[in-house]
Amino acid sequence: MKVIVQVCVLFAIAAVAYSASSTWGVRNSTDVLILNTRVFHPAVRNIAQTFYFDIPASYQSNNKVISAIYLDDQFQNSTGPVNTLVAGGPGWTYASVQMRTQTSIGLNVTVLVYARN
Ligand SMILES: *[C@@H]1O[C@H](CO)[C@@H](O)[C@H](O)[C@H]1NC(C)=O
Ligand SMILES: *[C@@H]1O[C@H](CO)[C@@H](O)[C@H](O)[C@H]1NC(C)=O
Ligand SMILES: *[C@@H]1O[C@H](CO)[C@@H](O)[C@H](O)[C@H]1NC(C)=O
Repeated sequence: MKVIVQVCVLFAIAAVAYSASSTWGVRNSTDVLILNTRVFHPAVRNIAQTFYFDIPASYQSNNKVISAIYLDDQFQNSTGPVNTLVAGGPGWTYASVQMRTQTSIGLNVTVLVYARN
């Protein structure tokens, strides 16, 4: 019986870890929202697509230190992308996030970036 409970807990943790929404860093109450945008890419049949999201965007500059990055999966049915912070992030003025979609599924993600004031 105890083993079953432990296995269930393990699965619950795995499900949370697999959640398509990601957070890096911690937002402080004094932080300012420097970016609030939605990224959408349509599905391509039989293909898992990889996209990069960069802060600052091309041809823009950012001199504020990032404190937190939130990626919110808008599908909310666990078919969102797998997200990896590949460069920069909290403590830096730039960041690059890789989003890898699941096969045959697009993505619809809200990105929120906070910076130290
Ligand atoms: C958050 O902000 C407070 C001031 O409101 C500051 O004292 C604290 O050090 C900050 N925490 C972090 C982790 O930057
Ligand atoms: C993305 O998700 C939001 C929230 O569910 C929805 O309102 C919006 O229409 C979606 N965008 C696209 C392009 O499907
Ligand atoms: C999850 O929701 C999205 C958007 O509504 C949809 O494109 C996708 O097929 C859904 N996935 C599943 C497994 O239902």
